[in-house]
Amino acid sequence: MSDAQATPVKVAILGFGTVGSSVARILSDSKPQGVELTHIFNRSVARKKVDWVSAGVVWTEKIDDVLASPVDVVLELAGGLDPAGEWVRRALEAGKSVVTANKKLIAEHGIALDKLARSKGCNLFYGAAVAGGVPVIPGLQQGLAGDQILRIEGILNGTCNFILSKMEDGAELAPVLKEAQSLGYAEADPTEDVGGFDARAKLVILSRIALRADLTTNEVPCKSITEIAAVDFAYAREMGCTIRQISRAELHGSEVLATVGPMLVPQASPLAWSRGTENMVLVGGTYGGDVVFSGHGAGGHPTAVAVVSDLLAIVHGSKTIDLPSKKAGVSGDFLLRHYIRFIVKDRPGIIAQIAGALAEQEINIHAILQKPGHTKANLPFVVIVEPCPSSALKRALEKIATLDCLLEPTLDLQILEPEAEA
Ligand code: HSE
Repeated sequence: MSDAQATPVKVAILGFGTVGSSVARILSDSKPQGVELTHIFNRSVARKKVDWVSAGVVWTEKIDDVLASPVDVVLELAGGLDPAGEWVRRALEAGKSVVTANKKLIAEHGIALDKLARSKGCNLFYGAAVAGGVPVIPGLQQGLAGDQILRIEGILNGTCNFILSKMEDGAELAPVLKEAQSLGYAEADPTEDVGGFDARAKLVILSRIALRADLTTNEVPCKSITEIAAVDFAYAREMGCTIRQISRAELHGSEVLATVGPMLVPQASPLAWSRGTENMVLVGGTYGGDVVFSGHGAGGHPTAVAVVSDLLAIVHGSKTIDLPSKKAGVSGDFLLRHYIRFIVKDRPGIIAQIAGALAEQEINIHAILQKPGHTKANLPFVVIVEPCPSSALKRALEKIATLDCLLEPTLDLQILEPEAEA
């Protein structure tokens, strides 16, 4: 940035919500050399104005005020595909570099946008799109670019981790989700978090950078955490495990095994130790072995740190390394043990029918757990099956779903095997 000290890089913030205001706060407090915040754009901007940013900043609700101005770097912090995608495209077309925290946009259109940025000689940085303040993306793009990564596994959604780690201590899901929303961790539509879609977008981005594999987002199996109940934590504890939302991708030739959803995690695993909004990513390299990244993955300030770090990288003349990726087929068929929880109106023969449906798919039962203290009218019990393809289990569970004794849909969770971990 040698010339940048003389002519500061002009910066605009698009979206003055949780992350946008945290970015402005960091820029106002630390006043990084060579950076000048010139514009803040938001819908109905008057209600957003604060008195602690420099008086010279233009507050606007017209995107063209930013895109037609001599702004050098646009920080897109509005999120979502539309209209944020259009703003990013227009900014890059105009030769402005872009820093974004928009995982949805980068998962869906990152390759095309990156190509556009390179063709215009500008930069597209998105370190904040995965794991908030944890530098996983720069770590993979630079620190680990020399390895061949074959496996990614981790906790990629802070809201789900906040919820599940509090449920582990006895809390109920709904009030904890509300708390996560009020603390600014959750997405505008929290279904994105609890349904696994936010983590899935992040897994698609990491797969592209780490495994060099392009996955189609919708093809990655994704399961919600909303069916997890207190009884599941009780049974998990009995098995020396807890429950976390886990995102996994493994490269097998031109195919990637990938999945997102709640899983049983052994208490001995570092993934089980993550609490609150902590994210954790384990990557397995062919040459360098396993590397773990962890830290706060959600919230205004941690995410803003990643945004400001990307901005400073651009100001200091950094370029992202071009790591070409290839289209990959996706399968969710990990060969793992499963935890299957039933809630039934008790009667003789239920276990025999379940065992029959599993045997038809050549699935072997490993254990059956039934804690005392529940009524026969509403009886939870758990079947653990030996490692089997998820597809075979799905067929068995479809047959089991027709049993008249079932009071609730069956919960099926993969169990993360200790030997498969870092
Ligand atoms: N809602 C996201 C999360 C924010 O909870 O992880 C960070 O991407």
